[in-house]
Amino acid sequence: MTNTLQKLQDLEPSREEFQAAVLAGLRQAEKSLPCKFFYDAEGSRLFDRICELPEYYPTRTECRILREYAGGIAAGIGPGARLVEFGSGAGVKIRLLLSALKKPTAYVPVDISRLHLLAAASSLAKDFPHLAIAPICADYTLPFELPPHAGTQPDNTVGFFPGSTIGNFTPQEARAFLESARRLLGPGSSMVVGVDLRKDEAVLQRAYDDAAGVTAAFNLNLLRRINRELMGTFKLDQFVHRARWNDALGRMEMHLVSRCAQTVEIGRERFAFRKDEAIHTENSHKYTIAQFQDLAREAGYAPQNVWTDPDNLFSVHLVKDATPAA
Ligand code: AVJ
Repeated sequence: MTNTLQKLQDLEPSREEFQAAVLAGLRQAEKSLPCKFFYDAEGSRLFDRICELPEYYPTRTECRILREYAGGIAAGIGPGARLVEFGSGAGVKIRLLLSALKKPTAYVPVDISRLHLLAAASSLAKDFPHLAIAPICADYTLPFELPPHAGTQPDNTVGFFPGSTIGNFTPQEARAFLESARRLLGPGSSMVVGVDLRKDEAVLQRAYDDAAGVTAAFNLNLLRRINRELMGTFKLDQFVHRARWNDALGRMEMHLVSRCAQTVEIGRERFAFRKDEAIHTENSHKYTIAQFQDLAREAGYAPQNVWTDPDNLFSVHLVKDATPAA
């Protein structure tokens, strides 16, 4: 069999970029850290464990939707698709899609975590020997280019953005992301987007603050990463994980709350924390189906179809470029 796994395009964020983002976030009056830096090797491993938790319904529910409606989704996408996945992670969901698609030509997984990306790409290459796989290690919120030779039918390019990762963006950022993805993927392209739905607050609270403490460990791992990579002095037992629903903004938020008044050093810079002062580490916006479809329209897409589970926990949308051909 030919080797269809292409050479990695490596744009992994540097230590300097991580440092600049961390320092900028902690210098603010309301401290925050960008959630994309959760995913070092340990963070990616913890995230995979979150996906298995009984309380964390999104992964399981989205996989059920993808499995159940794979035929309909594949019909909506059509034959010969070139797939570009934003934040490909462990590569479980793409398998569900690829197995149903008619003659997919190429797969371009884009992920910020290089080792995780390479492991998933080589395992996929074994299972889909006819598929050209062209991994890109990059922060997909920044501009990057599609490899020219990944696939022969670039007229059916499909973006795949599962997991409700789109919820990490504010609605304004989500709109901008969808627009730039539409430009990257090209005229006539489509997007398959997994979007977590608005629901009972208690269900959300449990999903983001699980009994086994895996989500807490995932959140705190960001401080461990800062200690290791940026010479930080965070005491991990002096911060606690907090998850809470922000009703006004329609999102779950994660914070790391300082247990006491303390000072933390990162390299040569010192940061003072008051007792109960929080670092805001993540937003997970929740949408109604209509809200997300409006957002997609504002980004130049026409909603084609949407699939949900019987309990209306999660939704998978197919949207298509609606801008006039140039
Ligand atoms: C991967 C961003 C979709 O927001 O639900 C899981 C990350 N954070 N538990 C989410 C996450 C806390 C997850 N996303």
